[in-house]
Amino acid sequence: MANAVLKIPVLSSIITSTAVKCSKSSFSSSLLHIYGRHICNCSSAASVSERQPQIRSPQLVALEYADLTIPHIVCEELGALRVRQHVNPLSASLSIPVEVPNWEDVFEDPKLPLVVDIGSGSGRFLMWLAKKNPGSKNYMGLEIRKKLVTRAEKWVKELALSNIHFLFANASISFKQLISTYPGPLMLVSILCPDPHFKKRHHKRRVLQKPLVDAIVDGLMPGGQVFIQSDVLEVAIDMRRYLDAESDKLVHVDNIDSSFLCDDAGWLKSNPMGIRTEREIHAEFEGAKIYRRMYQKLS
Ligand SMILES: C[S@@+](CC[C@H](N)C(=O)[O-])C[C@H]1O[C@@H](n2cnc3c(N)ncnc32)[C@H](O)[C@@H]1O
Repeated sequence: MANAVLKIPVLSSIITSTAVKCSKSSFSSSLLHIYGRHICNCSSAASVSERQPQIRSPQLVALEYADLTIPHIVCEELGALRVRQHVNPLSASLSIPVEVPNWEDVFEDPKLPLVVDIGSGSGRFLMWLAKKNPGSKNYMGLEIRKKLVTRAEKWVKELALSNIHFLFANASISFKQLISTYPGPLMLVSILCPDPHFKKRHHKRRVLQKPLVDAIVDGLMPGGQVFIQSDVLEVAIDMRRYLDAESDKLVHVDNIDSSFLCDDAGWLKSNPMGIRTEREIHAEFEGAKIYRRMYQKLS
């Protein structure tokens, strides 16, 4: 990934961080090997375990987001914040619509095109994009785990970003109302590695259901995009089915833009965002494939 090339110069600052409790030399050499394996696709006779004795995927996450330069990120990554793995989005406490913010208060220019990330997790994926695109786009993360939102907002303040906002909100309940009040156009919605809720009786907890699909399709500007991905094939297929069913309003991007390449099964060959999410980094570190689709709303 081209963006990752930018990370090399900042490697030393991560390595010297007192938060990383491993020896400088072993960490640095491990990191470079991982960097090679994931980004440069270097070939080597050494096995992965020989090449990366101490590297762990949280350190790769820190590397991916190094441009954010939040000094205590590595600390937090190594376990300072404890949050529940899963939350039940159907619980009564999460069924109350969030209060719509005063958009003038949360964005410097609330008329800019909006990018919404549903299930934004730690928020760093979106912060990285917001930092790269000041003055041209606004970013909003919707997240059902309150502690993550509190921490993300703290980071936004530290980074002094005026084009991003995080809301503690159940997207299934609040997305439509939020979008209908936003003063600018909705240009992109992402749902990236959503909670899989594997048990059949829990499938109804999955975030992408027909009402949310309708709200996304209605809310998008003409030419606006929906990006979905998962490291769980079954979940990716589930989301894909919902969006493929909207073929009168949505087209998959490879049909209109030859720069998007798909494999034989119709999954995008690469991440078009220029930055990976945390779950994506962890999953790829473990050798998983990421299943991605990007749709565009017809004009
Ligand atoms: C597996 S994590 C993935 C986070 C991030 N997108 C990534 O790829 O690293 C899924 C996130 O979606 C959040 N989530 C689940 N259901 C949600 C809902 N209905 N509304 C908003 N967020 C939700 C979870 O709390 C969790 O942080």
